Amino acid sequence: MSDTKQQLEKLLADSVLALATADETGLRELEVRLLGRKGEVNRVLGAMGALDVAGRAELGAAVNAAKNELERAIARRRQELSFELSSALAENDWIDTTEPGTVAAAGHLHPSNAAINEMSALFERIGFRRARYREAEFDHYAFEALNMPKDHPARDDWETFFIDAPEDKKMGKQVLTPHTSNAQNREMERRRPPIKMVAFGKCYRRQSDVTHLVMFHQFEGLVVDKGISLAHLRGALDHFAKNYFGTERVTRLRPHHFKFTEPSFEVDISCGLCNGTGKVGGVSCRVCKSGWLELGGAGMVHPNVLKAGGVDPKIYSGFAFGWGLERTMMMRAGMNIPDIRLIYNNDKRFLDQF
Ligand code: DAH
Repeated sequence: MSDTKQQLEKLLADSVLALATADETGLRELEVRLLGRKGEVNRVLGAMGALDVAGRAELGAAVNAAKNELERAIARRRQELSFELSSALAENDWIDTTEPGTVAAAGHLHPSNAAINEMSALFERIGFRRARYREAEFDHYAFEALNMPKDHPARDDWETFFIDAPEDKKMGKQVLTPHTSNAQNREMERRRPPIKMVAFGKCYRRQSDVTHLVMFHQFEGLVVDKGISLAHLRGALDHFAKNYFGTERVTRLRPHHFKFTEPSFEVDISCGLCNGTGKVGGVSCRVCKSGWLELGGAGMVHPNVLKAGGVDPKIYSGFAFGWGLERTMMMRAGMNIPDIRLIYNNDKRFLDQF
């Protein structure tokens, strides 16, 4: 008996020391090794069989006492460890609640989208309805219905991307819209006059330099009603130019030729980079070269275009215009964008300026 008791005492003495310095994992291992079902304390009980009743009672009591002591030591160490952990956290992982917070970057609309919203609002103010039509379009709407029959050389002005897609018997091949003028007949098929539409859309052409992009935007205006004249066109363009560019910028109409308008014009605006002089610091302005920038075309809708849209040209007349969105945006005072391609380079340093 006294052997067993000594054994127990030694076990206790050794364990209490080991427990006092154990780390988290060591503690868990020790707990199993000492108090587990097949642990060392229970192993001492194996000696029971050889003892008499009194001896058994004594050994039982001693083992229980040892168990209790070990459990207390384990609990104590566990508490110490959790305290150490939280003080380490307090030491290393603290925050200074008085430090000014970092403001999350909220982001903003891309300048092109912001321009679309702003321009659209300007036209909506004078009664235009904002529309959007396809970017993958049939030849019919992109050319044919715009008074440009197949093989007509006027089509060469649009360096069109054709889509490798099934051809429609009536509507023809499919193209990536080279201009937003497809919106004209799409709108006439959807609504009866009076029509007052401004359509914003992406355009695709095989071109890329400081003033051209492979993908760009245009906005197309179409007004069809009884008695619409050139005076209405000028009025709408003036309204836009005054409100978008400011009164110091000047526009001009230059006679031009488009198959879908008669008469046709190019609308120019004085360049915002060189202020219409054609020179920056004594050298030719790299954006406009001449002091003027071409915004796009305009004119009175050709009778054939009205007919293609199911509108009787004897009763109705209309005007249309189609301008490049990015160019228009770049011509605004203070924009000073020297290369149109910057707009879509996705350089945050550039975009964050807007
Ligand atoms: N669609 C023409 C282009 O991309 C621009 C244009 C010219 C649109 C005259 C019009 C217009 O609506 O009347 O160059």
